[in-house]
Amino acid sequence: MSKIIITIDGWSSCGKSTLAKQLAKELGYVYIDSGAMYRAITLYFLRNHIDWTNTPEVMEALEHITLEFLSNHKTGQTEMHLNGENVEYVIRDLVVAEKVSDIAAIKEVREYAVSRQQQMGRNKGIVMDGRDIGTVVFPHAELKIFMTADKDIRVQRRFRELYEKNPNITIDEVRHNLETRDYIDSHREVSPLRQAHDALVLDNSHLSEKAQLQVAQKWVAERINVKHTG
Ligand code: CDP
Repeated sequence: MSKIIITIDGWSSCGKSTLAKQLAKELGYVYIDSGAMYRAITLYFLRNHIDWTNTPEVMEALEHITLEFLSNHKTGQTEMHLNGENVEYVIRDLVVAEKVSDIAAIKEVREYAVSRQQQMGRNKGIVMDGRDIGTVVFPHAELKIFMTADKDIRVQRRFRELYEKNPNITIDEVRHNLETRDYIDSHREVSPLRQAHDALVLDNSHLSEKAQLQVAQKWVAERINVKHTG
């Protein structure tokens, strides 16, 4: 069966990665979390005190960054490695989340990440989630999903995730981070978060994980069918 590219874009913490992982598993596709790349670059900049308002310094820093998604044999999930170090856990920290949208808005950073993302999709059979995947990275993807969910529900979901790691975190910090990132991501000059004109909208505010997967599976079946007969 010929493989397609599936893109999932949308607001912060609306369950994109959960759906992307579900679909990749069902279809035997590769899952790529593009946000993890921006988070890992942010971690590198923070650790190395890179002045990201200084373009030559940013370009020089990017030359020293190697990003790899490596499979964890215990969990079967891919994890982000920065210069050989597994950073999958640390990049989820609020310290990184507070800076990532500023860094992801830098043109040179996006060029660096987007060219690697396009490389990963060259053989298709990929599910990638992010903000600009259906609009900029794979504008010709066979299936584009735009995910959304009620803001309070998104805040609750992300709070529960972060609270497990850090019980000192407050719901207000999480809400502020979500709102700030959504604003910066949708207002930046380069590749702002937008719904692609040919994307299908999935609002999962009141859908279980099983129900959201069923909706997406139906869309996948339609696209694979169209590809075979069309
Ligand atoms: O999972 P969550 O919704 O918190 O976000 P993420 O996918 O981990 O992405 C973190 C940040 O990276 C976003 O808030 C964006 O600033 C940036 N990002 C982006 O600009 N373009 C992408 N394709 C993916 C993420």
